[in-house]
Amino acid sequence: MKYVIANLKSNQTKKEALEYSKKIKKIKNKNNQLIICPSFTNLFLFNDQNYNLGAQNISEYEKGAYTGEINGEQLQNLNCKYVIIGHSERRKYFNENNKILLNKITQALKNNLKIIFCIGESLEEYKANQTKEILQNQITSIFNSLDLKQLNNIIIAYEPIWAIGTGLIPSLKEIEENIYFIKKLNYQNYHLNLFVLYGGSVDENNINDLKTISNLDGYLIGGASLSLEKLKKIILT
Ligand code: PGA
Repeated sequence: MKYVIANLKSNQTKKEALEYSKKIKKIKNKNNQLIICPSFTNLFLFNDQNYNLGAQNISEYEKGAYTGEINGEQLQNLNCKYVIIGHSERRKYFNENNKILLNKITQALKNNLKIIFCIGESLEEYKANQTKEILQNQITSIFNSLDLKQLNNIIIAYEPIWAIGTGLIPSLKEIEENIYFIKKLNYQNYHLNLFVLYGGSVDENNINDLKTISNLDGYLIGGASLSLEKLKKIILT
């Protein structure tokens, strides 16, 4: 079984999401666990047993006087089972640092949400051959603050920042090596049954190749998940 996570980002009006929700129910493949992550405003459209639902963000605070925030209890109440935390777009555009990420993880766990925790290197870091060091830092700075029970609710998505939305993608060998590196780090330090996904320009054309990567547990898909045709090909491949 592989995870296929559709990160719809800041897209789809209610009307578009409604249409998408109706059509996507019909795309089923027992080899995949499809998790849909729509905008907050459209979560309610996916609120039944036909869907595995995830949020793209969560407040770092409990309910209360935090204007504009959506809290974990609200997400759980809408049947969310997952939440994406640490996406590079949130780290970059919303200045989410480790302290904030840890608060968000704490809120997610309090509300029984599983965490899709994103990590990945920038282009500069990639070119400087620092990828493994970056991945290790991003993992340990969060994982070392959590206990085993908490860690068991985390799925990792390895997403090179330079591969997100660019059509660029590392070689299969590079992805495989980095997935192996993450799993080895886990094996040596945390002993979790850890799932590791790849994200960054996954589409209907490269999915066949990506599926040959050993030890890869699934994909986090942005742009291509907006097209039902593309997503269908990815899921049914
Ligand atoms: P992309 O985005 O598939 O459009 O590259 C992936 C992501 O940001 O999760």
